[in-house]
Amino acid sequence: MAEQGYQIGMVGLGVMGRNLLLNMADHGFSGMGYDTDQSKVQLLRHEAGERRIEGAASLPEFMGGLSSPRAIMMLVPAGPPVDAVIRALMPHLEPGDLLIDGGNSYFKDTELRAATLAERGVQFLGVGISGGENGARHGASLMPGGAREAYERVRPILEAVAARVPVVPSGLAVAAASTDAEAGLSPNGAAHDEAELCVAYMGPGGAGHYVKMVHNGIEYALMELIAESYDIMSRALGLTDEELEAVYRRWNEGELNSYLIEITANIFGKVDERTGKRLVDVILDQAGQKGTGKWTSQSAMDLGVPAPTVDAAVSMRDLSALKDEREQAAQILHGPQRAYRGERPRVLHQLHNALYVGMASAYAQGLALLRAASQSFHYDLKLEEVARIWRGGCIIRSAMLEPIRAAYSAQPDLPNLLLDQQLGWEVMARQPDLRAIIRSTVGLGISIPGLSAALAYFDGYRSAWLPANLIQAQRDYFGAHTYERIDEKGVFHTHWSED
Ligand code: 6PG
Repeated sequence: MAEQGYQIGMVGLGVMGRNLLLNMADHGFSGMGYDTDQSKVQLLRHEAGERRIEGAASLPEFMGGLSSPRAIMMLVPAGPPVDAVIRALMPHLEPGDLLIDGGNSYFKDTELRAATLAERGVQFLGVGISGGENGARHGASLMPGGAREAYERVRPILEAVAARVPVVPSGLAVAAASTDAEAGLSPNGAAHDEAELCVAYMGPGGAGHYVKMVHNGIEYALMELIAESYDIMSRALGLTDEELEAVYRRWNEGELNSYLIEITANIFGKVDERTGKRLVDVILDQAGQKGTGKWTSQSAMDLGVPAPTVDAAVSMRDLSALKDEREQAAQILHGPQRAYRGERPRVLHQLHNALYVGMASAYAQGLALLRAASQSFHYDLKLEEVARIWRGGCIIRSAMLEPIRAAYSAQPDLPNLLLDQQLGWEVMARQPDLRAIIRSTVGLGISIPGLSAALAYFDGYRSAWLPANLIQAQRDYFGAHTYERIDEKGVFHTHWSED
């Protein structure tokens, strides 16, 4: 009986779990779902229709209904809930079973869980899944990590639910595609033309969740940059929501084409049913976070990799949360009162280019971090593949990822995207516009740490000399930390003062 059971189990029937199961079933895979909340099980049964999907009323029914050896995906919030599910499943698991964590788990937790389960002969995969509800239902970007044999077991299922993007003839940019329809695919997923899947084996251990964490760090950075562009257009240029919608829509048709720019345009178009105002204007200016951006910054600092735009994005979410304090401070601390006097079309053009540099910088920081992590943790990441699977389905998909993919295809060990001839040139060509935007915005007293960090990163990275010699001298002065000289090898210490 068990051999004819359902091919995949899903624990956690929230929006992501249910939609992924439906997506799997649409591609011919049978699935059984379980949730401690029986109303979600009922909902799954209702949504399943004629598909080969079943909702289990109990854990024994769920475990007994799956074909053996079992493949079970968990889609529950990161942290203690994942451990709680593993504890509940443990008595029912058998050697050879495979557990898949499809949530946003911390990569070190994933490595620990894999080691614990391996002692019981149970395989474990940490799969980063991006794309939200729509991605889960119609094609997500998937970042699987763990033992390769384990990945091979579920590869057909993961490939079936992955987003597809058209193969790009070399040298051409591609618009960020999310769904099968956008990617030129028929509803059953068969390609009219050649298509690439947005899934690839990332590496051992926590590699999949590490890549997803950095994806989210980049996501935070891009969102902060776009928010800053909104602030500039709204407060400095006085654009209305209608005008903002039009600008983002226009930008989405060009080289800034991306999911986040697209939804930003849609957001400015959305009217609040209660007030008749644009919904965005009645949303409280306090951003939440579940931690993946912070983890990215923490890991970057642990590895000694600069990621200042991600850091700025996390800090600004923290600052946004200090709403009461900010309201008090606004009464006490004053800045420039000037109005912006630049010509709108010229400033909008500059802002477009500033955003391009900011976005490129965010990807550069994230991918440089992945390169360092790959070396430190022996993930053996293929950055071309990472860029390729981010081109569709995920939150950070953008047209820019095609030249990024091409850069790593030409030079797999590229230390930094800014060193790619094409991208470096594009950034250099637009830097005067970023400088102009920063100059005028700083003069107006508008906070733009994401854009400023992008420029500082660019200027610092391209600087063969930095004032760190002074920092070394200071360290040696107060703490005898020693320094190196430019004219002689070795380690030196100086008695800097007579006191
Ligand atoms: C994705 C998103 C998704 C989730 C973020 C939100 O790739 O689909 O990244 O995983 O929306 O984790 O993160 P915050 O709540 O921290 O903003």
